[in-house]
Amino acid sequence: MDKFVIEGPTPLQGTIPISGSKNAALPLMAAALLGDSPTTIYNVPKLRDIYTFNNVLRVTGARVDFNEEDGTLTIDPENISFLEAPYELVRKMRASFYMLGALMGKFGEAKVSLPGGCAWGPRPVDLHIEGMKTMGAQIDLEQGYVIADSEDVLNGGVYELNPSSVGATINLLLGSVLKASEFTIKNAAKEPDVVLLCEALRKMGADIEGIGTDTLTVRRVDSLSGIEIDNAPDRIETGTFMIAGAMHPESEVTLQGADPSELGAFPDTLRKTGAKVEINGSTIHVKAPEKLKPISVKTKIYPGFPTDLQAQWSTMMTQADGDSKVTDTIYYDRFSYVPELVRLGANMNVVENTVHISGKTPLKSASVMSTDLRASVSLVLAAMVAKGATDVLRIYHLDRGYEDLEDKLSQVGASIKRVDQDA
Ligand code: EPU
Repeated sequence: MDKFVIEGPTPLQGTIPISGSKNAALPLMAAALLGDSPTTIYNVPKLRDIYTFNNVLRVTGARVDFNEEDGTLTIDPENISFLEAPYELVRKMRASFYMLGALMGKFGEAKVSLPGGCAWGPRPVDLHIEGMKTMGAQIDLEQGYVIADSEDVLNGGVYELNPSSVGATINLLLGSVLKASEFTIKNAAKEPDVVLLCEALRKMGADIEGIGTDTLTVRRVDSLSGIEIDNAPDRIETGTFMIAGAMHPESEVTLQGADPSELGAFPDTLRKTGAKVEINGSTIHVKAPEKLKPISVKTKIYPGFPTDLQAQWSTMMTQADGDSKVTDTIYYDRFSYVPELVRLGANMNVVENTVHISGKTPLKSASVMSTDLRASVSLVLAAMVAKGATDVLRIYHLDRGYEDLEDKLSQVGASIKRVDQDA
């Protein structure tokens, strides 16, 4: 197992390239199964979750070629014959559950393991299942597996997601585009990853109305064809590096290859801290303020403040001049990073779904443990402003979702080394 050894404090100065998005690529990969010919996706990041999903696809018989040099991923669904996503793979990554919609949608059958819990509590899939049932599919649960069965044509109907869910919207789209006479998803997710999936499906030949709104209506088509499509830049990686650029008073970073239009209100929220944020096409320039102002945030569905930047924001707030509160309304328990930051000297405590932070506390090195993807990158952010050599253990979480993190941060001045944690 690897760990990072990070020596701080170091200001960050220079240019960071933004990678393709993990969370946008995964639904596109699932959608590729619906085509009658191969689909090629460009700008796919080299991340553990992508490799896991490649294997989920290969188990079915799909041919998957990933050119890691240029991030081109080609998926040929022609020889799919095994309509299952086994527990051994689904437990590694919850998004494998997209196989339910993709396999049932294309072949009328699917057997997909129920995902287990997650580091920050239960993450149910009841909406995915209820939505499929409303569409007219038969769904049974057997020994930890969801078994879906569908006629060639399903009636469809109207299903309202409560709460709105990215994953359920994606699964229901995948399940309905080839099957449902007319199916309406209300309170559908409007996250950019969902919009990109809708655009990809439409390019493949699907009939979807309301793209980008919270009401999506699908009318079935007989077949879909493979396409070529560009994956989106990673908006959460972008937000993470914007925060990194604001945390040390001498930091100034330029992010290249981003899509600022997918950041919602985030750039303006960051400006409120006193950070200077300039956007020019796909380039974002962030200059840290001399003194960070404390700014409280609440996570919301898109275009609100993303839950996937909640931990990073709280980490930055430990360096702000005063008190702030960060509330997560999407995931109530997503605070496992807090005790780790406290070990570094942060003054913060969690009450219900809010972390109360008193800044500014000088951070000092310690050994800290990653618990999930966004928690672990927050420990990296903290370590880069902490005094001394911090060990961030269990960084396999980071490898799921941040491409070349140590190279990108080293290039802009961080002192960060990957070493074998057990050596
Ligand atoms: N929910 C239900 N029932 C369901 C599905 C969701 O109650 O059947 C609830 C969840 O418990 C949560 C809310 O709905 O309170 C929203 O969850 P959502 O389904 O939108 O999350 P997800 O699709 O499982 C994706 C991202 C997450 C990101 C969330 C929210 C992927 C692969 N995952 O998860 O990303 O936090 O949307 O934006 O796209 C990450 O990248 O670190 C990550 C966890």
